[in-house]
Amino acid sequence: MHKLVREVRFSINPFLGEDAVGANSFCSKPSGEGLGIYFELSVVLAGEAEKETGFVVNVVDIDKCVRESVVPVFGERIRGCYREGKHVGFGVIAELLRVSKEKLAGKFGRAALSELSLKLNPYRKVSLGCEDNEMIYFSEKFEFAAMHKLWNEDFSEERNFEVFGKCANLSGHGHNYVVEVTVKKGEGQEEFCISDFERVVDEGFVQVVDHKNLNVDVERFSEVNPTVENIAVFAWDELADKFEKGQLHCITVWETDRTYCSYYG
Ligand code: NI
Repeated sequence: MHKLVREVRFSINPFLGEDAVGANSFCSKPSGEGLGIYFELSVVLAGEAEKETGFVVNVVDIDKCVRESVVPVFGERIRGCYREGKHVGFGVIAELLRVSKEKLAGKFGRAALSELSLKLNPYRKVSLGCEDNEMIYFSEKFEFAAMHKLWNEDFSEERNFEVFGKCANLSGHGHNYVVEVTVKKGEGQEEFCISDFERVVDEGFVQVVDHKNLNVDVERFSEVNPTVENIAVFAWDELADKFEKGQLHCITVWETDRTYCSYYG
């Protein structure tokens, strides 16, 4: 089975009565004029590649469906909120994703809609699971810088360098890490406050590790190696009970843009 992802980029400008059509779907279509709201909607489709074409679904068809039936729904709702001076909160965003799911249902032949994910900015997204549940997921990325050394006292020095490579450097070395925290909300529980969420993650995890020597300053890593795998588990352990029970869904830690790991508890 394949999972195909198509990212559809579009802009809504509520200051204008309608959006300019545009001719550059790589950037944004509708194009957006002046200051608008830019969205990236990722459509995740699960299915088998067809023999004749090699496609799960032709991405041209995905773009067409989204632009014809989903973008107008976003435009209408956001313009409506703007006219009434109303805030577009997570309840509205969740509802827009649910309506998008209904609009796209059955449009892709044998391929099933697996997930719809809306980037609100490059570091923050809201997703709707479309398969066995209707959970809304909110994800946001944070950064921290830290020093670490990967080492096992039970190994010889030679073996440590063989296994851990440059990360075994005796006096340590630094990484600029990125951590993404994802929480989930069932239907009717979508409203939550981003600044509260950020405060919990910042105080509960980022401040504990930022600009620290992980091996020395963070007790957990006197026992286990501060690998991305173990840092993700540590973040989970620090944060899980700071959210409502079962709300924390996933922690992903990037050590570089090539090395990252997700932990689901
Ligand atoms: Ni390293």
